[in-house]
Amino acid sequence: MSWQKEPFEIEVKKGEIKAFCACGKSENGPYCDGSHQGTEYTPYVIEFDKDQTIYACGCQQSGNRPFCDGSHERR
Ligand code: FES
Repeated sequence: MSWQKEPFEIEVKKGEIKAFCACGKSENGPYCDGSHQGTEYTPYVIEFDKDQTIYACGCQQSGNRPFCDGSHERR
């Protein structure tokens, strides 16, 4: 399953905390929507230390989740 082929480009702010889906079941990918309950997964919770643009994995194949590592190019 994937949310989309390309990564999600997301602007984040310093001090912002986001929870990214690790289980792959979220209907609001790349974010956690609580669908992991009852599974062994917990979301990736990340606090950003600066304003930046991130690329969150959309294809669910990245080896560096929740971030894109270019795996979508190799599918
Ligand atoms: S919905 Fe997937 S980790 Fe929460």
